[in-house]
Amino acid sequence: MPHRKRTRLTMSLLRTSAARSLRLPALITGILFGVLSGCSSSDDNDDPGVDIPGDSGDPGTTVVLEPLPNPPLTEAPSADDEPVPFDSVFHTVTDYALVRDTGPRIEDDIVADLTEADYAAGLPEAVITVPAGVDPAINGAPYFEGLSNVRVEAGQLVDIRYVPRDPEGELPGMFPQGLPDGATFDDNFDGTKSLRWQTYQADLGVTAFTVVAVDPANSEYRSSQTVLIAVDPPSDPASVPNIAPSILPIARYTVRAGDPVSIFIIGTDRNGTVPSIELLDPPANAFLTPDERTPEWQILQAVPETAGTITFDVLTRDADDPALTGLDQIILDVLEPAEFERSGDRLKTIAAGSGIEFGSAISPVFYMQADGGVYESIAGSEFGVMTPESSMKWIAINPLPGRFEFADMDNLVSFARANAMKVRGHPLVWHRSLPDWVEETAVEDREVHMREYITRVMTRYSDDVDYWDVINEPVADEGGLRDSLWLEAMGEQYMDIAFAQARELDPTAILVLNEYDIGFAGPKFDALLSLLDRLRAREVPVDAVGFQLHVSSNFDQFDELASNMAAIAERGLDIHVTELDVAIVDDDSDQIQADIYRGIVETCLAQSRCKVLQSWGFTDRYSFRTGQTPLYLDRDYAVKPAYQALQESLGGN
Ligand code: XIL
Repeated sequence: MPHRKRTRLTMSLLRTSAARSLRLPALITGILFGVLSGCSSSDDNDDPGVDIPGDSGDPGTTVVLEPLPNPPLTEAPSADDEPVPFDSVFHTVTDYALVRDTGPRIEDDIVADLTEADYAAGLPEAVITVPAGVDPAINGAPYFEGLSNVRVEAGQLVDIRYVPRDPEGELPGMFPQGLPDGATFDDNFDGTKSLRWQTYQADLGVTAFTVVAVDPANSEYRSSQTVLIAVDPPSDPASVPNIAPSILPIARYTVRAGDPVSIFIIGTDRNGTVPSIELLDPPANAFLTPDERTPEWQILQAVPETAGTITFDVLTRDADDPALTGLDQIILDVLEPAEFERSGDRLKTIAAGSGIEFGSAISPVFYMQADGGVYESIAGSEFGVMTPESSMKWIAINPLPGRFEFADMDNLVSFARANAMKVRGHPLVWHRSLPDWVEETAVEDREVHMREYITRVMTRYSDDVDYWDVINEPVADEGGLRDSLWLEAMGEQYMDIAFAQARELDPTAILVLNEYDIGFAGPKFDALLSLLDRLRAREVPVDAVGFQLHVSSNFDQFDELASNMAAIAERGLDIHVTELDVAIVDDDSDQIQADIYRGIVETCLAQSRCKVLQSWGFTDRYSFRTGQTPLYLDRDYAVKPAYQALQESLGGN
């Protein structure tokens, strides 16, 4: 089962972020993942396609759903899972009520750690991404020389030198995918780079660290090489120095005068203990409150009334040695509300004038960020439809069998209602963002698990959801179907079953099949078309195709995008652009980025079946590709050229 191994590793890689051993709440891990991954979705999606028997022949028969088992395979949501009111001291929302989950916070159980067995299996195989048009027989993939897994004792320094090579003899570039907490990735100025990581007790266990080598001739042609680093307990604990604690996040935010600010602060100590937290000389009206579920975490609340810079000095005190303290600063740049105003009409209004809906993905728990107030007011005014960026993923909603965490999604629904926004449910069935327990289900049980999950989510949210991304990313990058635990269990019919189940639960919603890298011609788009034809032949209730459109500033295949959309439209399906963002590559300018946003909007407007256009976030601060500044407001909510390009092009100008 090759996909199992790979999926587990991918999930563990996500945890390689600084969040790994620090037990962060979802909001901070979510953001760190975004910050640290800095990669397109396709980087994680490397499965070779699977040939489907009968691919070109008989499409098979229409599925009929059996009743679900009673009692169910896993316990359905119960009163125990119902969220409770969330005190406003913990968040930035002022005009409607929020909720929170109860019970012990679920963290490490969700994703099994990498184990000694993973370590013992040796250096993981490199994952190679081959873009369309590259023939690996002519242009060999870049690789690293002489790497192996590494073992140290806590307290020791990890020092791994990365020597990139290319079969054609040129020097590949490289970048790390996230760094272990406290590590640096240093340029040795001889074509090599080094991971340097001073380990402590907080790092015990096996950690994955991935570096991506970039082909000198084609920057999309990449090899991701993971090294596993095992950190053992120190044989002499006294030899590990006790270092000063610190906090997460250490950050600077731009906020709006008059908005409440709430910042989740977690004391961290690389020695593996939990420090206490104090505010030194707090400004008036600033105070700390412990988190109800995790009392060692604190929420800093303040309402900055006037423009200016506010610095919070946060003192952390070591648990073993109270004289050992850390001092960190959280800085707020407070701007007058007028500074955030954008000229012209709002995007949703302009889009409506052209007959389409405009919207965005919304970050998980934005209301527990310092800048939640301004985030919400911009999102609330600009968007007519929203997708929960992560709050509806299986790992978020149902992290353990029979256990449900609905609060984050409930709050986004409240946000959508308060702002009269439509909601896209996303995603019901995907091969990623699955909790470990789902990854470990027996093949013969998976169909029921999938249907139970769809049923539980749709039962709770159907009244508020207009569009459902029922199936996410089913096609392999090279064509064929993506190898996944769903395909393994049910074959292609997993899609038939999921769509039939969704239709049964919500006869009026628009049901979507969502996919990335289908905005240009190639084997992946061809495979999508033949999949759609088979689904249609079996009367599977697909209403629309979602074009994710995570593109880069070198995108120029507008003609191919138009003809791909036309091919979907010819099949009687609607088109939704679901996850548009434009990563800046090759030092391209913001103006080039703006032109690509414009071109994509124009292509959508020229196609009468293109009905919804949503970006994947709107501010570069909260983007899963933040390092490539792919959005149309910058980190401080200032408009970029792309914003104006959206206004003009959505209005047909
Ligand atoms: C991404 C989120 O943006 C990240 O914050 C999260 O860590 C991983 O998932 N295609 C999809 C989205 O359908 O759900 C993905 O969202 C991005 C790629």
